[in-house]
Amino acid sequence: MKQDITPTSVEKVMREDDFIVSKTDLKGRITYGNRIFMEFSGYSESELINTQHNIIRHPDMPRAVFKLLWDTIQAGRECNAYVKNMARDGSFYWVFANVTPNYDKDGKITGYFSVRRKPKASGVKTAAGLYQAMLAAERQAGARDAIGASTKILTDLLAEKGISYDELVLAI
Ligand SMILES: Cc1cc2nc3c(=O)[nH]c(=O)nc-3n(C[C@H](O)[C@H](O)[C@H](O)COP(=O)(O)O)c2cc1C
Repeated sequence: MKQDITPTSVEKVMREDDFIVSKTDLKGRITYGNRIFMEFSGYSESELINTQHNIIRHPDMPRAVFKLLWDTIQAGRECNAYVKNMARDGSFYWVFANVTPNYDKDGKITGYFSVRRKPKASGVKTAAGLYQAMLAAERQAGARDAIGASTKILTDLLAEKGISYDELVLAI
């Protein structure tokens, strides 16, 4: 289904009061999505449930961002990120996502939870520029070295600014 989608330059913009919510299992398969998620993604509940969350992955997103996301949440920490998503009709929508692990009573991670709200325009602009540079590095490095090459762009930027990833995301 997803392979057939051609990205377009049509943007959908989140409203101030919107929250896009989804939950996944440990492997990133969607187990829950709210109405706004269905509205923005263009998929019905039955199409989303049990489907990998990369169903809305936009080709403009660098792989290194998702590696950082997964490394962080699998380590039991929360992750904030600007994400460009692709809807079923090829349009795109930017979100500011907060992704957290869900725990059972024994402290074991049982799945993940993401709440997205309307991103700041300045943050989208900064993230879009950074992701473009990261994506170019991934393409130039080739599949095997892609994540290392684009992670370096991010870590170099953080080193230059002397801040952590979280500080960057909250500052832009
Ligand atoms: C709770 C949760 C929410 C996620 N939300 C998104 C999302 O909105 N968009 C997205 O592209 N990937 C999202 N992901 C990451 C995907 O699982 C996946 O790593 C990413 O789309 C990259 O896919 P790929 O490995 O096929 O390139 C989410 C993962 C989790 C655990």
